[in-house]
Amino acid sequence: MMKKDQLHFLFYVLLTVLAIALIALIMLPTYETPAPPTEDIVSRKTTNFTRAQASAILPIPQEEPLSSKAQLGEKLFYDPRLSGDGTVSCATCHDLARAGADGRKLGVGVGGALGAYNTPTTFNSVFNFRQFWDGRAADLVEQITGPLTNVAEMASSWAIAVHRVSEDSDYKEAFKREYGGEISEKTIANAIMLFESSLLSPNSPFDRFLNGDADAISSEAKEGYRHFVDYGCISCHQGINIGGNFFQRFGVMGNYFSDRGNTTPADLGRYNITKQEKDRYIFKVPSLRNVAVTAPYFHDGSVDSLDQVIEIMARYQLGRELPEKERRHLVAFLESLTGEYRGERLKP
Ligand code: HEC
Ligand code: HEC
Repeated sequence: MMKKDQLHFLFYVLLTVLAIALIALIMLPTYETPAPPTEDIVSRKTTNFTRAQASAILPIPQEEPLSSKAQLGEKLFYDPRLSGDGTVSCATCHDLARAGADGRKLGVGVGGALGAYNTPTTFNSVFNFRQFWDGRAADLVEQITGPLTNVAEMASSWAIAVHRVSEDSDYKEAFKREYGGEISEKTIANAIMLFESSLLSPNSPFDRFLNGDADAISSEAKEGYRHFVDYGCISCHQGINIGGNFFQRFGVMGNYFSDRGNTTPADLGRYNITKQEKDRYIFKVPSLRNVAVTAPYFHDGSVDSLDQVIEIMARYQLGRELPEKERRHLVAFLESLTGEYRGERLKP
């Protein structure tokens, strides 16, 4: 027979589990429907979340050897023949030697055409709950048609891509081996998606710190991490990608865009897709992995320095002005998030 105390204890454990399940259930819909942020997001920063939320950042897993399908995808990722005029490949903008981005303010495509958005890195994009700044693609497969057909990117079509791939005898052989000879939108997108899914950047100093190496990051970075948790950056930037798992408004505590001026259609965020007022200025919270080597920042590449980004985030997302020293610590923390690809530290 159990003692009364033990029964009480069990009862409270059960109650806690139920409460957590209930909270999870209430929070779950924010992953599906982009609910506009409320004061709630901000008030969370004052709660003592340190332990629970510290585990809200998970390390990036180690890379796996490429499957033969992913190797085919790698070749396609680097192949400019997929573009309309044969000059631009995925890797033109997502240069893996430049941390999977291009270092430019806005993407530049076929014939020098200027895009409307800053190029995000393809590293770890497999962990994003949706793709693109405004989340309009559900996954990496749906995403590919975007750049392929965008006139400011590859200015091509699936018909062109399928035709060019079919003309190449090496590709023909590879598709025979991997996909029973089917060369189509479906198989090309599948191979590229498998390659993209392999683009992980493990072993960042911060991940090594999470894995128990207390000396992997500087004391400044540790201070910065503490601010990141205490001030509530982590209420938005969290999970394995330290972002990338839900939508939030850019400008929770004030109208960033009207304060800044010079607005563009891209600033409307998800409103462009849903045409609903509540989605104005709503964006996918971006991943902060490798952020120190993927400047410039924001969906429009409008800010060059992390210090300034942090100032804007603190002011417009959290309603705080941070002293220079704390911003410096936060920069040190963000710098500790730079990972490795094929054994080499990513660089800008
Ligand atoms: C001209 C430059 C350019 C080319 C070429 C290009 N991209 Fe992109 N890519 C971008 C830009 C800019 C965005 C952001 C666009 C947006 O959010 O609307 C983006 C977004 C993405 C994303 C979403 C990442 C995220 O975090 O949301 C992925 C994945 C991606 N591209 C993969 C590819 C693949 C695969 C190809 C080749 C088929 C490709 N890109 C070709 C510039 C480019
Ligand atoms: C309410 C949610 C929210 C909070 C809190 C928040 N952010 Fe952000 N963060 C965003 C969104 C949304 C964006 C994308 C803005 C855009 O470009 O449209 C962003 C962008 C960023 C970027 C730029 C990423 C890139 O690749 O361009 C950095 C860096 C960043 N945040 C750091 C922080 C830091 C540090 C804090 C705490 C001081 C913080 N954020 C607090 C939602 C949030």
